[in-house]
Amino acid sequence: MGRRLTFALPKGRIIKDAAPILAEAGLSLEGVAKAGDRRLDYEIGADYRVLLVKPTDVPTYVGYGVADFGIVGRDTLEEQSRDLYEPVDLEIGRCRMCVAEPRDARTRATAGTLLKIATKYPTVAERHYRGKGIETEIIPLFGSVELGCLTTLADQIVDIVESGETLRQNDLVEVETIFPVSSRLVVSPASLKLDRQRIRDIIEAIRSAVIARRREGSSK
Ligand code: PRP
Repeated sequence: MGRRLTFALPKGRIIKDAAPILAEAGLSLEGVAKAGDRRLDYEIGADYRVLLVKPTDVPTYVGYGVADFGIVGRDTLEEQSRDLYEPVDLEIGRCRMCVAEPRDARTRATAGTLLKIATKYPTVAERHYRGKGIETEIIPLFGSVELGCLTTLADQIVDIVESGETLRQNDLVEVETIFPVSSRLVVSPASLKLDRQRIRDIIEAIRSAVIARRREGSSK
């Protein structure tokens, strides 16, 4: 038996969707993050350890090699641009990175105007508008970004949209999709060097589980 392999998993609802996929690699999340449980660090069987971290911290734990594996959204990966292996799109946690603005917005994004953009994703937003040659002032926020547009703080927001309900209930409309988002399996390059075969076997088991789920889904 080798050392325990560590997974950094995002606290929250992704765990529920990830559980059946990880189970195929022999990692059972039964008993992890049950209601009222405040534990952050779990030893699972003889082989695994699970750390429950804030979603935006997953790349940090994996990047420093503290965790061998992580599960993290493409939104976070694009924002942080860390050097991680990203072998499997888990096809869960689907949403999209969007530009949105008030339904009655008078200012549309056109070249030459300085737009104020509120966002939890300043790097993504900066790259997006720069690519279009639009000058912006990026205003970083930590949450409830929609309020940026409801007040005079910003003309537009860059944020993830899942059901669209938050936009609808706050009278905002999507202007543009920047990229689709889903959760990815990420792997520490250092771990791959250290435990190549074990890590590869786990990646393959997870990849097969994702393909099997996709087949099940499309045959329904
Ligand atoms: C996210 C996102 C939107 C909302 C989109 O916020 O920033 O506000 O979910 O989901 P919807 O399209 O299904 O309505 P989150 O719930 O993470 O809260 P936060 O704004 O406080 O970060």
